Amino acid sequence: QAATLVVDDAFEIAPVNDRLFGSFVEHLGRCVYTGIYEPGHPTADEDGFRQDVVDLVRELGVTTVRYPGGNFVSGYQWEDGVGPKEDRPRRLDLAWHSTETNQFGLHEMAKWLKKTGDNELMEAVNLGTRGLPEALDLLEYANVPGGTARSEERRANGADEPFDIRMWCLGNEMDGDWQIGHKTAADYGTLANSVALGMRMIDPDLELVVCGSASHEMATFGSWEQTVLEKTYENVDFVSCHSYYWPRFDADGKRDMASFLASGVDMDRFIHEVASFIKSTKARLKSDHDVFISFDEWNVWYMNEEPSKNPEGIGNWPVAPHLLEDIYSAADAVVVGDLLITLLKNADVVHSACLAQLVNVIAPIMTEEDGPAWRQTTFYPFSITAKLAKGGTVLEPKLDGGTMETPRYGEVPLVNSVAVRGADGSVNVFVVNRSLEEAADFDVELPAGTAASSVTATTVHDDDPWAKNTRDDQEHVTAKLNDSARLDGETVRVALPPVSWTAIRIE
Ligand code: AHR
Repeated sequence: QAATLVVDDAFEIAPVNDRLFGSFVEHLGRCVYTGIYEPGHPTADEDGFRQDVVDLVRELGVTTVRYPGGNFVSGYQWEDGVGPKEDRPRRLDLAWHSTETNQFGLHEMAKWLKKTGDNELMEAVNLGTRGLPEALDLLEYANVPGGTARSEERRANGADEPFDIRMWCLGNEMDGDWQIGHKTAADYGTLANSVALGMRMIDPDLELVVCGSASHEMATFGSWEQTVLEKTYENVDFVSCHSYYWPRFDADGKRDMASFLASGVDMDRFIHEVASFIKSTKARLKSDHDVFISFDEWNVWYMNEEPSKNPEGIGNWPVAPHLLEDIYSAADAVVVGDLLITLLKNADVVHSACLAQLVNVIAPIMTEEDGPAWRQTTFYPFSITAKLAKGGTVLEPKLDGGTMETPRYGEVPLVNSVAVRGADGSVNVFVVNRSLEEAADFDVELPAGTAASSVTATTVHDDDPWAKNTRDDQEHVTAKLNDSARLDGETVRVALPPVSWTAIRIE
């Protein structure tokens, strides 16, 4: 197999928005407790934040962090998580059938984000069990400098300066019947619009995200977006997309790996369809306003399998249980790399994205309580893409290569790739070989007259696509130098093993 990508600076898609490298921290399982927060851990600082995790989060290169959920937020009372820790109530978390101790809340999150590199907080409000008054209270508490009841409460709780949160999610997955306070599109659209209007009366320049569909497969997909956008269009800046992928079982009980490796095809279609709903709403409303996509939950998630089963029973509400602790394989990392390529290719309409989630829960970083922290396989494509693509400009991918058949998506490109022109003049190419069996010779054709002097290719691949990193074998799958890379005048050639992700930096 062979494929060629032509790098052409005359055809730009968009600058890379830093917010494409966002992540997500939900009060779920061990994401917060024993993930980022564990007083008493040997690396914990004076605030109880694990420093081994802080270091890995910095290395991962995440920007925005969406918080505090997720399904959790639809039952959350934000006031429970502020004030003296000894006075904070223990509450039922209905979303994950757990106990929320509230030892970590808004102040802790804001402080933690400063320590992980001044990351941006993307806060979600509860539109499940709550509504406009509580959202306004939270905004007053977070963003008003002082002189009012809520803002003075924040100051008394130790934060003299406002948190100045710019980006807010108006609820979470309100189309899903599993969501606490699930609503019809019309009811949600009306509520979200009134919350948006009210929040803007406090702080007019907020960036607001209205809920789109919880997945591309929802029966209401499309009609949900149309109704919600029609009701909220002028008062919001983003509509959300959420999507998780995993290798599903086919009729013979075997995992359909070909379709799984082509997950980027589905994400791409999803984005194009939502972009068309945005455009048609804009046209129908004769609006000058632009709405973009916030792809604020995406990842590989073995959704209905053992690690994702909720605790059960009226007397069984564990604190920080092991939930959604998927251990990722080399193939999963390739899919994560492909999804990142897909987000970059759509950088003109996707202005924000969050890898769901950050620590322990379907996460690139794993921890053991009172033990070590380590990188999952999926850590590598994320950290390398973030490092090489931030600050650059995405170029239109002129890609020529073969195709493969998949049961779910039909005939799809074997190779997916995109190039980002770095602010420093470098060319950064990201590429996946989706073939299960065959290697591919991949050529990058540089613009005429390019005098490149070096090429570095880094590949994530394992001969066993199921190979994983575990507590006792933490670096089994990593990103390794691909020494097949050759620079020949204006062409770079790299050999791509089957089921692999590669980043190529040309300087
Ligand atoms: O990320 C895990 C869950 O997936 C989130 O809580 C929810 O929003 C989505 O369904």
